[in-house]
Amino acid sequence: MILPICVYNHPVLRKRAEPIEEVTDEIVSLAENMFETMANANGIGLAANQVGVLRSIVVVDISEMEDGDGTPPLCLLNPTIVASSPDEVEYEEGCLSLPGLRDVVVRPSAVTVEYDDLDMRHHRLDATGLLARVLQHEIDHLNGVLFIDRLPAMRRVMLKNKLKKLERGTVECNYPFVHPLRSKVETT
Ligand code: NI
Repeated sequence: MILPICVYNHPVLRKRAEPIEEVTDEIVSLAENMFETMANANGIGLAANQVGVLRSIVVVDISEMEDGDGTPPLCLLNPTIVASSPDEVEYEEGCLSLPGLRDVVVRPSAVTVEYDDLDMRHHRLDATGLLARVLQHEIDHLNGVLFIDRLPAMRRVMLKNKLKKLERGTVECNYPFVHPLRSKVETT
C-alpha cells in the first residue's frame, strides 16, 4: 500500500521516533508499505516519520543507483550511528518531504551503524559512499532532523523562499502527500 508522505512543515517531521522492541505484524506491513511508498516516489531512502509513524524504522534501496555498490534493499529497525569517520564529504541531497529542494550537505564520508532486522537480529554495518550518505540522512529523520538543518546559514537563506512556499502549502510532487495546512491526502 502506498502511504502519503508528510511534507514540510508537518510537525511529525520534527519528532523523535520511538524504538521498536518487538516486531509485530503491524511493523512488518509498515516496512512493506514503506518500500512501496519509496519506490512509487522514486526515493532511495525513507524514514517512518515521513509516513507519519513515530517508530524507529528506515528503508533504503540504492540497488538501482550507479554508485549503489551492489547494496541490496535494506530495512533497518532502531538504527543508530555508533562511529563516524573524521573526514567529511559534500554531496547533493534531496528529500521526499522537501519536494523541489536540493542542496549540498557536508557529512562524514563513512559511518558505522547498528540496527536490528525484521527478525530482531542485531547487525553492525560499516557504510561508505552513497550508503553512508543515505543512512545518515534517514537516521536524522528519526531524530526530527532535516537536511536543511545541516546547511550553513548562508545556504539556508537562499532556500528561504522555496521553504516559505512549501510551508504555505504550495507542494509540487508526483506522489500522495499530507501537508499540515491541508485537510486530506493529495496528489498533484
Ligand atoms: Ni529525507
